[in-house]
Amino acid sequence: MSPARTAQTILGLETSCDETAAAVVRLAGDGAVQVLSSVVASQIARHAPFGGVVPEIAARAHVEVIEAIAERALAEAALSYAELTGIAATAGPGLVGGVMVGLSFGKAAALARGLPLAAVNHLEGHAVSARLAARLDYPFLLLLVSGGHCQLLEVAGVGACRRLGSTIDDAAGEAFDKIAKTLGLPYPGGPALERLAKAGDAQRFALPRALLDRKDCDFSFSGLKTAAARLAEGLSSEADRADLAAAVQAAIARQLAERSDRAMALYAREHAGRDLRFVVAGGVAANETVRRRLTEGAAARGFIFAAPPLEYCTDNAAMIALAGAERLAQGLSDPLHAPARPRWPLDAAAALASPTHVPGRKGAKA
Ligand code: KG4
Ligand code: ZN
Repeated sequence: MSPARTAQTILGLETSCDETAAAVVRLAGDGAVQVLSSVVASQIARHAPFGGVVPEIAARAHVEVIEAIAERALAEAALSYAELTGIAATAGPGLVGGVMVGLSFGKAAALARGLPLAAVNHLEGHAVSARLAARLDYPFLLLLVSGGHCQLLEVAGVGACRRLGSTIDDAAGEAFDKIAKTLGLPYPGGPALERLAKAGDAQRFALPRALLDRKDCDFSFSGLKTAAARLAEGLSSEADRADLAAAVQAAIARQLAERSDRAMALYAREHAGRDLRFVVAGGVAANETVRRRLTEGAAARGFIFAAPPLEYCTDNAAMIALAGAERLAQGLSDPLHAPARPRWPLDAAAALASPTHVPGRKGAKA
């Protein structure tokens, strides 16, 4: 990686879904990364009665706590605004009411303190998240799997992503969440389904495999979702439900691993003779079965495997601060009228060429 031009100490803000988060991250001139604080206030309890994220409740909850969370992040880092070099806030994609809260707070802080603003793409945050805890050089192949997004990207640097594949219907996290709901599990469904699956036999139920006739790196989970919903109807015991949960988890992990394998083959051809790195990020990267399948797949193709620690897989502000730091270090800042964007593909060219594949088109986190 080319070294960062100037050292940065950045306050990051994340409010694009159901977590209000703030963090302080330092990026040294040689590219070394230090997380000085990372505070995440989850709204799960407020959305749980509704079985999913309610945008209006989310936006109001962000307003209530954003200032206190930002203050806590600064206090835990033992820094004041005067010691920062910039502010980074998620500007999309996400639930726009929430995005506006964090972005407006960030703009106000930047204006009041005379600091530059980085309006960060949430997906770029996930893309750099593995760099928070370990040295990881660009370029790398990234599988980004969260509640709103499921895509394979070649990441050459901050702001330089090329999409190799994407979901044509649901995101992997969305599939976990929706199937969990049909199994009667509480929101958020992914972690609940993983817990239930621990006692299950993944071999008992056969589930459909998607897009087998295609050779690209795209994903589809709608067939799996329908099949799982149908099977769930006939189940009565906890043991039956555990078996179905295990089968669903295995099916999602298998599809992620198969498409990643295709993308690795492509990527390896284009990067022959260089270090090959495969990174998985986003909430679904917290799933143990998914991680294990991907780790094995990367090893089989000769890729170095990296994934963020669990706390940086799901939404957090440290990843936003780091993405902002990398932009600001390159002299890229955003004006105070930078818009909040409900949709904002990382690879705009690919999204335009294939409009049905707009990432995160559906779902609460889109
Ligand atoms: O990255 P994230 O926090 O938010 C988005 O930007 O979408 O991802 C949240 C998603 C949810 O769909 C959640 O169910 C899923 O990640 N998730 C999991 C696990 N932990 C979180 N899915 C499967 N297994 C897990 N352990
Ligand atoms: Zn996310």
